[in-house]
Amino acid sequence: ETVDQPPVASKNAASESQAEKLNILFGSHTGNSEGLAYSLASKAKEMGIETEVSDMASFKPRNLKKITNLAVIVSTHGLGEPPVQAEDLYHFLHSKKAPDLSHVRFSVLALGDSSYVDFCQTGKDFDNALGKLGAQCVIDRQDCDVDYEEDAQAWQQTFLQVLSKSVDAGSTGETQINTAVPVREQKYSRNNPFEATILEKVRLNGRGSSKENIHLELDLEGSGLQYEPGDALGVYGANPPLLIEKVLGAANLSGNEKVQSHKGEKSLKEALTYDYELTPLSRVNLSKYEELTGSSMLKEVLSDNMKILEYLPGRDFLDLLEEEPHTFEANELLSVLRKNTPRMYSIASSQDAVEDEVHLCVSVVRYSAFGRQKEGHCSATLADRLQVDDKVKVFVDKNSRFKLPTDPETPVIMVGPGTGVAPFRAFMQHREVSEKKGPSWLFFGDRNFTTDFLYQTEWQQYLREGILTKADVAFSRDQEQRYYVQHRMMEKGKELYDWLEKGAHFYVCGDAKKMAKDVDLALREIIQQQGGVTPEKAEEYVKYLQVSKRYQSDVY
Ligand code: 2AM
Repeated sequence: ETVDQPPVASKNAASESQAEKLNILFGSHTGNSEGLAYSLASKAKEMGIETEVSDMASFKPRNLKKITNLAVIVSTHGLGEPPVQAEDLYHFLHSKKAPDLSHVRFSVLALGDSSYVDFCQTGKDFDNALGKLGAQCVIDRQDCDVDYEEDAQAWQQTFLQVLSKSVDAGSTGETQINTAVPVREQKYSRNNPFEATILEKVRLNGRGSSKENIHLELDLEGSGLQYEPGDALGVYGANPPLLIEKVLGAANLSGNEKVQSHKGEKSLKEALTYDYELTPLSRVNLSKYEELTGSSMLKEVLSDNMKILEYLPGRDFLDLLEEEPHTFEANELLSVLRKNTPRMYSIASSQDAVEDEVHLCVSVVRYSAFGRQKEGHCSATLADRLQVDDKVKVFVDKNSRFKLPTDPETPVIMVGPGTGVAPFRAFMQHREVSEKKGPSWLFFGDRNFTTDFLYQTEWQQYLREGILTKADVAFSRDQEQRYYVQHRMMEKGKELYDWLEKGAHFYVCGDAKKMAKDVDLALREIIQQQGGVTPEKAEEYVKYLQVSKRYQSDVY
């Protein structure tokens, strides 16, 4: 039934509300942009600004014509590419179809990781594209590193203040004074982590393995921290004493100097232990170091992305200090370092099953480069420097983009080689204690069956109990030819496709650079072969799975 509206009245109503409304578009990869989009909306609401939040994949480009105020919050994926969710809008804005946007006032919040060369590239591209289409940028784009919270909040505040001023000026001619917006915070968070006690620490690989994975159980009692399967735990590491000694030596400092770190006044040694990172290096470190020292070698490196890409891998701050020696003031030294950033580990337990505990499956990073043995900042803290009964600073990082289906009876397919299996252990624990449970299928892979079958006895138990319906494994180095989870998936293509057709959700967790890409290709191949469709149709099928949240990935 259609009801005719008086045309004039409806037009006025529409334009009035849209003059004030703020449209917030997010393109998220891990959910951080999504979280920021919603926190921006709630702050706007408190200031009386109406908002509409949408993910970029669901947003219809033709609605751009109706937008007046626009916030774009977008992360950068892989090597400078937009996240899947942002792809279509990204291409639309760069295409001939893109409309004139001179009626739009906007700003971009870009998320990224400064250890990559194409830091915040997607945000930069959105910013440029909107500008080229005539949209007016009201406050400068904010690029945020992995420790994005402070920068993001500052951007949110400024943007809203500018918008609310112009809205007020436009409607009443007055300027409203805005007091700081209160931010609702959990008791423990990234900026105020909980000190969890280590209850258990076990090496998961058998003797002689080429891998080093550890299983950790931490005590969250009294923290009030809540998590769901699919969420991650943020963990703060600390730098190794020996490395700190060497850095102090190379910089001609004792470590006893009083410094002002972002965490307050303390000794340099303490600040270097807990508040900053010495490894890995990023482009930002290099340019700050260059600014301070005037190093011509670094100037040369920084002039070319390729040269940066060649320079960074394997080097840490000590390498830089030794290659380009400089006598620092204690505070100066800190100014070139990146703040200690928590590492996110996919949680390997379900709170429904383990209550006050949280479990992690951590891959310990060790390598040798530029004549020294090196290690992962956080993984080595957990492996070497902390023991049972020690405390570690943690917080829960919600991940709304990696969740079990809302209906517990929906089938799930889980692809998790190596430590990528962690969230699936959480999924299975969760289903074990829930009343209704649908079919579940695990694809696990690692190097060798005898040493690297992580949580083997648990999967076997789940299979016996019927909590896990099927498990398929791929041990890459038990035979001549490398054999991976995607090969196993291909072998089981018909059945896998049947599961998808029956509504299964497909999950992949683990390595982003190679594994997740190959698994994604295999999935497309299976759909094409088993569905008897063209590559384009298979592509659409996958897009549909993604948009309907039936294809979720947690990759790193
Ligand atoms: P590899 O180290 O023998 O190459 C967990 O780390 C497992 O993932 C290992 O068996 C590892 O094999 C495997 N792996 C490495 N590259 C992969 C890829 N492109 N696709 C799937 N699995 C991969």
